[in-house]
Amino acid sequence: MCGIIAYIGNKPAHDILITGLHRLEYRGYDSAGLTVMDDKKIQTLRSVGKVANLRNKVEGEWKDNSKASLGIAHTRWATHGLPTEENAHPHTDMKGKISIVHNGIIENYKQLKSKLEAKGYKFHSETDSEVLCNLISEFYQGDIEEAVVQALKHVEGTYGLALVCSDEPDRLIAARKGSPIIIGIGNGETLVASDVSALVQYTKQVIYLDDNDIVCINREGITDIFDMTKTPVSRDVQEVDWDLGAAEKGGYDHYMLKEIFEQPEAITNTFRGRLNYEEGTAILSGLNLTPKEMVDINRVLVFACGTSLHAAMLGQYFFEDFAQLPSNVNHAAEFRYRNPIVERNTMAIAISQSGETADTLAAVREAQRKGANVFGVCNVVGSTIARETDRGVYLHAGPEISVASTKAFTTQVMVLLQMALKFGRCHRLSRSEGVKLCREIESTPELIREVLKEAENIKKIALKYKGFDNTFYIGRGYMYPVALEGALKLKEISYIHAEGYHAAELKHGPIALLEENVPVLALANDIDGKDKIIGNVEECKARKSPVILTATKGDDEMKSYSDDIIWIPKASAPVAAILTTVALQLYSYYIAVARECNVDQPRNLAKSVTVE
Ligand code: F6R
Repeated sequence: MCGIIAYIGNKPAHDILITGLHRLEYRGYDSAGLTVMDDKKIQTLRSVGKVANLRNKVEGEWKDNSKASLGIAHTRWATHGLPTEENAHPHTDMKGKISIVHNGIIENYKQLKSKLEAKGYKFHSETDSEVLCNLISEFYQGDIEEAVVQALKHVEGTYGLALVCSDEPDRLIAARKGSPIIIGIGNGETLVASDVSALVQYTKQVIYLDDNDIVCINREGITDIFDMTKTPVSRDVQEVDWDLGAAEKGGYDHYMLKEIFEQPEAITNTFRGRLNYEEGTAILSGLNLTPKEMVDINRVLVFACGTSLHAAMLGQYFFEDFAQLPSNVNHAAEFRYRNPIVERNTMAIAISQSGETADTLAAVREAQRKGANVFGVCNVVGSTIARETDRGVYLHAGPEISVASTKAFTTQVMVLLQMALKFGRCHRLSRSEGVKLCREIESTPELIREVLKEAENIKKIALKYKGFDNTFYIGRGYMYPVALEGALKLKEISYIHAEGYHAAELKHGPIALLEENVPVLALANDIDGKDKIIGNVEECKARKSPVILTATKGDDEMKSYSDDIIWIPKASAPVAAILTTVALQLYSYYIAVARECNVDQPRNLAKSVTVE
């Protein structure tokens, strides 16, 4: 999704902006651009495609001579209009004085555009952002901060924005509503970004703007932060706990592979200091609930999107199995459109790696409107969902850069398991059962390492199946969400059509598609449901589908049911679900690499989806 970086200080801005844009590449984009303020003159360069194209253009046209030390830059992921140079940001107003970069969507841009056209404004792009830029220009009477406030009062929709004005060449303005903006405070320099990853190289001191905040910055630093009524607001400076190394590939060919291999450590971070072996429970102080409050909760509503939704489905099993709590999983996008019933004593949980997913955020707000206590399970600290939810638990998985989610999924599952354990101990789960679950959680990182040792075997199998255009993933019980997640991973990074199905559902329709060119990946680990899935595998074989199984190490009889086997260490059902997911991540990864796909930035995808 779109990314913003802006700089004001005493160094050449274009260098810092281009580096910042590279850091934002992982979010997914289709064009990029930058503006620098050169001696009261706005200079803009934009290009379609990768940031490298923009860098070449900058080097070619400015020949490294630009000393301008104020600028704004953007990576765009097309929403209004095609990915063309005209539609790329920054946009400049008709008078050529104001240049803006904008994330989000101006919902009433058509009405605003017509009004501006009636006043003689001409537009060069199809974007809502150019409309916003001209709207600010319309209100400009020598004070850019005032013009921004007046313009934003007429705007419906969301924005994270940064802008400069050639009449005030020492000022940078940024504002936020519904799309993140973070200010990085450096030594004699200040940065603005939509994402912390673009800032960490320059500073660890950051301020997260809240919705409706507007910030004014000059060469000395921040001069004001105020809201839409121009009332000053104060925002704390926070210390970012990532370093640059954590946001780089660390010797792996792709971020995705690095993140797959980081899972033992990431999972350890989710439970470090959070398990009480003595009492057989989880601590999770972020939930901030007394045992009495926990006993009063009698229903769990979970909402999320994509991979996080699959984690939510596993969470539903955990809450039912360990805490005897009725649970519902909801597509976040659908939640507010179907007038959901939120009863008293319902706990709602929003799951989101980025904490910025628009559909999930909308569901959070809908649940809050209906009086629910909403808990956030997020990875990105300070993200909008993390801040807007009443309480929550962070994943501590570290930055996930690859667009395809891997370690966020397994850590989400781990956090949900700990939540179920904690609630379970207030309900019917005994101390000894709780201790057993703590031990299982603790054993997971080592078991993941065993799965990772299978990488070469998984790669061999992946290479055998890389040429098939369709694949079915089937599972039952805990392995059903894992089948969905395995199929999602394969389709998003290798562009192979893959369907995740409940194994029993196959015979209700999709079995018609099975034939020798349609492999089936059946999750037949030795846990509840295995006997039944063997029957389903036989049905697939009878239709000549090649069968790949995941099976439990030592369960040698499974060889007779399969063409190929991915062995998974023996583990309890919740842990087996995590281990099997890791194996399927590797399977998709190796197929995508073999098919020469852009693994970390698959086509059409964005890391955080901030549009509904
Ligand atoms: C798939 C993937 C997406 C995200 C989804 C939700 O690999 O990454 O399906 O899981 O867009 O994102 P978050 O978790 O950031 O809300």
